[in-house]
Amino acid sequence: MNTHLLGFRCTQCGQTYAHDEVTYTCPHDGNNLDACYDYAAIKRAVDPRHIASSPDRSAWHYDIFLPTTVPDQRGLPPSPLSSFGWSPLYRAPRIERDLKVRTIWLKDDTRLPSSSFKDRASSMVIARALETGVKTICAASTGNAASSLVTLCAGTDLRTVIFVPQSTPEGKLAQILIHGAEVYAVEGSYDDAFDLSTQASQAYGWYNRNTGINPYTREGKKTAAFEIAEELGSKEGHQLSPSFSPFRSPDVMIVPVGDGNIISGIHKGFKDLLAVEWIDKMPRFIGVTATLAPALYRAWQTGTEHIDTVSSSTIASGISVDLPRDGVMALRAIRETDGLFVEATDEEMLEAMHVLAQDAAVFVEPACAAAYVGLRKALQLGGIHIDDEVVLQLTGSGLKDVKSALAATAGRIHRIQGKLEEVGE
Ligand SMILES: Cc1ncc(COP(=O)(O)O)c(C=O)c1O
Ligand SMILES: [Zn+2]
Repeated sequence: MNTHLLGFRCTQCGQTYAHDEVTYTCPHDGNNLDACYDYAAIKRAVDPRHIASSPDRSAWHYDIFLPTTVPDQRGLPPSPLSSFGWSPLYRAPRIERDLKVRTIWLKDDTRLPSSSFKDRASSMVIARALETGVKTICAASTGNAASSLVTLCAGTDLRTVIFVPQSTPEGKLAQILIHGAEVYAVEGSYDDAFDLSTQASQAYGWYNRNTGINPYTREGKKTAAFEIAEELGSKEGHQLSPSFSPFRSPDVMIVPVGDGNIISGIHKGFKDLLAVEWIDKMPRFIGVTATLAPALYRAWQTGTEHIDTVSSSTIASGISVDLPRDGVMALRAIRETDGLFVEATDEEMLEAMHVLAQDAAVFVEPACAAAYVGLRKALQLGGIHIDDEVVLQLTGSGLKDVKSALAATAGRIHRIQGKLEEVGE
């Protein structure tokens, strides 16, 4: 455990708990918990320049801000579990030119071990499980959280039990199966799978990775903010100044939103960096939900934190959620940063997959492509200005959902017998 972790605070009633007093939600009212740290002590203990110059190119090099420590793999070469994070940050000059925006970066988490952002949360939950002697971890998932958990548990003694909706794309199912999980495909939605996994975890004593209700998920996800700020700071070239901080915020963060845990995690990461004064501003957050999974968008429009369950039916499996499980914290990420929510239709996401693939060389799944739809819409709505520096968080690979990719492409295959004349024709 990190000695700077003070414990967990309920996001609703504010009650605080010691770190080993709680496992999931607030015992008092069932709301999600948030990890609290002694920022003054962190600030005294660590020089950001030491972190930025650390030879460890994994998200564990931010362990001073994490609730648990790197799984003990001393003497072993890096494994996917011990080396999570540090995905590339690319410029997208063609999209910048096309949309006339000064700077657009793509934070490419399709390059993590299981090809999705969810590895950040899974790594943290697995590290906690290993710390506490857990034998079995379960998870409900639209596909990526589960495939990530199962990938990263491979090679450890942890057993995994997975609950997914039957609509989960085959690529994600293949990952879950090949790494050796016990899989239940539930007739119904992700939300049905979520409720069943909660019951099963209680009945059988399994540790539950579920998004939002397990407070370690947000802590893992916040590492994306650290990396983005460090990568932007290191590209700055002002290292010679004695007062320089190797961390810097973009103006805008665009994040696809299902349960709302990724956006709340990245928001938390920037809050941590502000608390120790390693950055001087909070980016504005643009959350992108699917038009066919509108629960959070509607809640945002009401101006309250009340979220009604709304049945979802989008092709974007990663953000197909009826009742967002970290919705309140997602709403706060938008409201506290003067950001906005925008919606993406299925057609717009397929079109965006095409644009990202051809103009920025990244192959993403529909839920991830929602970030590009959000960029265009927020520009139209005035939520992004042309001189902003914008980061799009990429969250999942297109290879996970090949059916959608084929639906998205305008390319045509020429089926021929194999003669040179046919090519000429
Ligand atoms: C590819 C992809 N993008 C975005 C999300 C949304 O993340 P969250 O549910 O934390 O909002 C998910 C979640 O499964 C996902 O798989
Ligand atoms: Zn509470």
